[in-house]
Parts: sequence; C-alpha cells; structure tokens
Amino acid sequence: MVNIKFKINGQKKALNIHDDMTALAVIRSLLKLTGTKEGCGIGECGACTINVDGKAVNSCLMLGAQLDGTTVVTVEGLAAKDGLAPVQKAFIENHGVQCGFCTPGILMSVNALLQEIPDPGHEEISKTLAGNLCRCTGYSQIFTSVKEAARLAGQGDQHG
Ligand code: FES
Ligand code: FES
Repeated sequence: MVNIKFKINGQKKALNIHDDMTALAVIRSLLKLTGTKEGCGIGECGACTINVDGKAVNSCLMLGAQLDGTTVVTVEGLAAKDGLAPVQKAFIENHGVQCGFCTPGILMSVNALLQEIPDPGHEEISKTLAGNLCRCTGYSQIFTSVKEAARLAGQGDQHG
C-alpha cells in the first residue's frame, strides 16, 4: 500500500491505495468520480483524460501513486459554481456531443489546449484531438465546438 496526498477539483485528498492501482481506478473506484471514462485501458482512446498540473494525461496509463503532490481536475471540476465552462457551453451549443462517451476526455484535452494556446488553429486542434477517439460525430462538430470555446473564453468567460 502507498499513501498519497493530492488535490482534485479543489478538494484535498489523502488516500491509502494499492501500489499497482492506476490513477483512473483511484478516480473512478475510490473517489466515485465516474465522469472520467474507461475505454481501451491502454492509452489509445483518450476517454480517461484528466488534467494533472495543467496538462492533459491519460489516467489509465498513470499509476495512482503518481498523483501524490499533484493538482488534478476531472470533468466534474470544469464548471464553476455560477455556470458551465466555455468548453462545455460550446460543445452543447454546437452539437459536439452525441453518445457522450468520449466527451469528458475530449473536454479535458481541449481545456488543456486552450490554457496553453488560447486561439488554436486547425492543426493545433487536430493534433490535440488525435489522442481522443470519437466514433459518433465525424469530428466536424467537435472542431466547431473547440473554435467556439476559444471564442467564448476570449470574451472573458474564464470558467474552467
Ligand atoms: S482508457 Fe485510457 S486511453 Fe483509453
Ligand atoms: S460522441 Fe459518441 S464516441 Fe464521441
């Protein structure tokens, strides 16, 4: 067993976990934050993407022990108390969501992208989304949603 302390969605956590537990298992099974999805479990689909210290990470490839000392945001932590984050609003308004299984991971990847590059071009968006598989949308609405999220965030909607 290993003891870890970290912050997730603004809350401090101290947990005793098995050495071989993934960060994904810690988040879903121990903390019951089931917005983060398990798809492939081998780093291919991006459904499990979370933000760790501001970077998008596949939580299925990260050991739970590596969460120690980090600051984590999951999809449950994106919205502010007074409303949805720009990226969430943009995906709803531009039909970037169909079945929704890929959506939490995509939101976390896009959130990290917009924090690094506030007005990303097609290539930057494409590179970011390369790690997130969506079998429903054909990606067109997702690209539109990302551009709209950048526009909303640029207008001063700072949530997320
Ligand atoms: S579940 Fe982690 S990348 Fe697919
Ligand atoms: S909306 Fe269904 S997998 Fe992306």
